Amino acid sequence: MSKPLRICAIVGARPNYMKIAPLAWAAADRDDVDVVVVHTGQHYDRNMSDLFFEELRIPQPDVNLGVGSGSHAQQTAEVMIRFEKYLLEHPIDVLLVVGDVNSTIACALVASKLHLPVVHVEAGLRSFDRRMPEEINRVLTDAISDLLFVTERSGEDNLRAEGVPAERIHFVGNVMIDTLLRSRELAEKSDVLERVGLSERGYGVVTLHRPSNVDDESTLRGIWGALATVAAETDLVFPVHPRTRARLAALGLAPPPRMKLLDPVGYLDFLKLQAHAGLILTDSGGIQEEATILGVPCLTLRENTERPVTIEVGCNTLVGVDPAVIEAKALAIVRGETRRPEVPRYWDGRAAERILDVIRNSYGKD
Ligand code: UD1
Ligand code: UDP
Repeated sequence: MSKPLRICAIVGARPNYMKIAPLAWAAADRDDVDVVVVHTGQHYDRNMSDLFFEELRIPQPDVNLGVGSGSHAQQTAEVMIRFEKYLLEHPIDVLLVVGDVNSTIACALVASKLHLPVVHVEAGLRSFDRRMPEEINRVLTDAISDLLFVTERSGEDNLRAEGVPAERIHFVGNVMIDTLLRSRELAEKSDVLERVGLSERGYGVVTLHRPSNVDDESTLRGIWGALATVAAETDLVFPVHPRTRARLAALGLAPPPRMKLLDPVGYLDFLKLQAHAGLILTDSGGIQEEATILGVPCLTLRENTERPVTIEVGCNTLVGVDPAVIEAKALAIVRGETRRPEVPRYWDGRAAERILDVIRNSYGKD
């Protein structure tokens, strides 16, 4: 039998773990591919990193490059320098990157210049907002990737419009949803609702970390005011991203009485919090998708989304950052407004298997 194909999968930041996990699980069930995980160290706090490896049973990384925080240029450059050294010493057959964080573009660029095949999972998403650092990372990563795996039809349309040949694009579904479907039962065992003191559907979940929202003082103050109004009618639970924690402290913003601020929580606790919420308010990319599958109304505090299917068939609504709009939409949901979402095509728990099949067929050694 031929040797298994060695796929190096990159993780760097929180949303990467739940995208790599199902690929590692699927690879463990077959003998034609090996997945080797490399952690860049972009995120490093226990509850932004190690906890997810334990909860999602992701194989320990072959190496943690220990890059840590910095400006965009510093962080991206440091990942490139350290990952190039690793790749020169550790032969691989294919580089697999997910999503749109700085580690994604940095590693894709290094591998591409070493003439290794690069495959991008969650390709083709576009917010068409070049002021988002992630949009730059998406466009550039797609431009140098050999295989582009898309989660929704818009991804395919966007790539075709950019001139990517059809044979490089594969509509395979959503690995993040593979993880969600596989983890739901386990997440139900979490006692986070009791620990925090929340009742079934009697609360909203909040997350915020986009620089455009939290690094801009007047935007953050406006959102904070809207959340305080919503919290007058329902409990809110807000696991605070470290970027946001620093900004709230700097501005001296304290939570209103019914808003519970937590440190970032693990995946299983967060899934349980989302699944039983009456409402989600977020600027996260991935949470818009998870809310769609969980059927929980989601208000996205941004002017655009790179995930339009969550609005077209899901229960996501773009509300921007105008406090009056956020308050009106959130209170309508708290007072009973509902919407029944559909499941987007191929968000069926089998995306990772499809991806490994395509990679094996494209690069397999027979
Ligand atoms: C990054 C991604 C963003 C993703 C988010 C997910 C980029 C450009 N941004 O944003 O797309 O949505 O992760 O969470 O790649 N920090 C800690 N501990 C940590 C990690 C970060 O304290 O473990 C603090 C540091 O002060 C750091 C700041 O958070 O400077 C921002 O971290 P960084 O990775 O640069 O960007 P994120 O805002 O986390
Ligand atoms: N998440 C988590 N704990 C939290 C907040 C989010 O496990 O306290 C999970 C969430 O369920 C989703 C992922 O983190 O799977 C989304 O990551 P994030 O919002 O940091 O990044 P984005 O998707 O915006 O890039």
